[in-house]
Amino acid sequence: MNIQFGVDYYPEHWPRERWETDAAMMEEMGIRVVRMAEFSWFKLEPEKGRFTFEWLDEAIRILAAHGIETILGTPSAAPPAWIIRQDPDIQPVDREGRRRHFGGRHHDCQSNPAYREHIRRYVTAFAAHFGPNPHVIGWQIDNELGNSHAELCFCESCAERFREWLRAKYSDIETLNRRWGTDFWSQGYTCFEEIQPPRLTATGVNPSQMLDWKRFHSDLIVEFHRFQSRILHAAAPGKFITHNMMGLADTVNYYDLAEDLEFVSQDQYPVMQKTTELPRYLGSRGAAALDLIRGLKQQSFWIMEQQSSISGWGEMSRMPRPGEVKLWALQSVARGADTVVFFRWRSCLFGTEQYWHGILPHSGRPGRTWAEIRDLMQQYAPLVESLRGGMPVSEAAIVYSYDQKYAMQIQPHHPDLKYDEIWLAYYMALYRKNVPTDIIPDRADFSRYKLLIAPLQYLMTPELARKYEEYVQGGGTLVFTMRTGVKDRDNICTEEPLPGLLAELCGLHVYEYDCLRGMSAEVRWGEDIYTTELWADLITPEGAETVAAYASEYYAGVPAITCRRCGKGRVYYVGTAVSADLADRLCTELLEASGAGSILDTPEGVEAVCRQGRDGTYYFLLNHTERPQNVEVPASWKPWGEHAPMPIPPFGVNVYRTDDLFAKIT
Ligand code: GLA
Ligand code: ZN
Repeated sequence: MNIQFGVDYYPEHWPRERWETDAAMMEEMGIRVVRMAEFSWFKLEPEKGRFTFEWLDEAIRILAAHGIETILGTPSAAPPAWIIRQDPDIQPVDREGRRRHFGGRHHDCQSNPAYREHIRRYVTAFAAHFGPNPHVIGWQIDNELGNSHAELCFCESCAERFREWLRAKYSDIETLNRRWGTDFWSQGYTCFEEIQPPRLTATGVNPSQMLDWKRFHSDLIVEFHRFQSRILHAAAPGKFITHNMMGLADTVNYYDLAEDLEFVSQDQYPVMQKTTELPRYLGSRGAAALDLIRGLKQQSFWIMEQQSSISGWGEMSRMPRPGEVKLWALQSVARGADTVVFFRWRSCLFGTEQYWHGILPHSGRPGRTWAEIRDLMQQYAPLVESLRGGMPVSEAAIVYSYDQKYAMQIQPHHPDLKYDEIWLAYYMALYRKNVPTDIIPDRADFSRYKLLIAPLQYLMTPELARKYEEYVQGGGTLVFTMRTGVKDRDNICTEEPLPGLLAELCGLHVYEYDCLRGMSAEVRWGEDIYTTELWADLITPEGAETVAAYASEYYAGVPAITCRRCGKGRVYYVGTAVSADLADRLCTELLEASGAGSILDTPEGVEAVCRQGRDGTYYFLLNHTERPQNVEVPASWKPWGEHAPMPIPPFGVNVYRTDDLFAKIT
């Protein structure tokens, strides 16, 4: 597939006469693919069973004449008003029992049987019509599944599906009662029919019920996707199906959704309406999302929507600085994107997203943004081609789990304790040192990594505990944090002293802990004092050595961070939330202990990434700051392309390559 760059295109928003101009301009830039039609239901089926596919045929034909292929979306994120009028129950119900009405998008209940029939009719006809078209190379089902559905849907159809899911999981009601701990507050059930989704209650919901609800809800969305993917694959074999995901969003367990896809895609918007952070900070957030997406299938991926200008609905983001859009797109490439599709071609004159700006402004006249993206496409297409399918090589990994995240969302302990912020504190420290890091599920093969960070292993099973132990025995360096081994997979607390099933491996017990409400704690490591927040596990070592101890409160002198050697490896336990300076210190120690490599030392805000290509290894230096930056580059790195100016200009990107096929990280 000779496709490096593309754009999201909505021809139905523009007069037919403009399409030719658009296609010619796209071709001139280097655009080789468009995604279309993911919100075009009404335009393609204005009344039941009457399909008006001709205009889309025409758009595909015009684009193809300019060497541009098409990905088509199924439109189930926006059922038209005539469907809603016919079957109003399709409109979803929130926790409080209120309907969410037509007028925006995502106004659909994904379990509703009448809705499924509308989708079946549409997708069957759509696939039969467009499947044979050689210029339609693949599909996207729905759009950003999970977006806006976090609190949807609690309707009777979803309640019934939840009960079915529970029946399949628990078989009999006694088992469910036991595993949900329904003896508390008289919550016992005599049959599955009595069970409700966790609708608005007078007081807090059973945490085991809530965890199952979140899992069920994710499974429902994955099944909703599969319902459509089966139809598409049957009607049009040989075409790929991908999905545009949203990085750290969690309504859908993306590991599960990824199983139904040939490859995953990401929607990458570094600057959103509400974003006020400094540019250099955006680099690390963007990198984390890309690494997470790459980890879903441990494969290279696509960007299906890459920010091209100001984002905004009601409010707007700042304008990306000259060079910044190109920098972000190359960051996506450096971290594993095979193709980058920009959102969107042209800013729309009407509708909710009037201010979500495209490559072209409202006027349709090419300007600075167009020229920047054109230069990017023209200069870098050969580079993207050399990297296709290649991966960054990481010796460090962070375990990311939807189950752990859900459980922490249900009971955050401290209002500021966010699952993502806890693992990101470690990720950011590794990022600052340019340590390539994979984000992986707990079912991945750990043995590939020298350093494994497993934050908030709150829910634990004997199998997973054994897997961690084998990893350490085999020579790995493993890091656990506070709130590890607290519960079983049903969200029920363990009777064993913490960290429960992992106490022996960690060589310690946590008999007491402190939730740092309205206060912080101090931790002494050697001569240095660090301030930590959120949580303090008071560690009693039983085989582990103390690395750092608290220096404040009634537990001054009690260990806060420990390390135990075990087999050929070691396991660290960090009993508190790490601040940036403590995370940096810890990472220095962890890299030494594990031997996991970093690419290069760079000034703050300059990111170094390494990705294997087909004919060598490529190194990227990405300057996320508004200042020129000097970096000392190894002599073996040969500049790729025209030049690699030093200092690297503001928002500039230097690319180098070496001949080795296997990236060496030192
Ligand atoms: C998301 C969606 C797009 C569009 C953009 C801008 O990424 O996938 O349809 O709505 O955001 O809001
Ligand atoms: Zn529903």
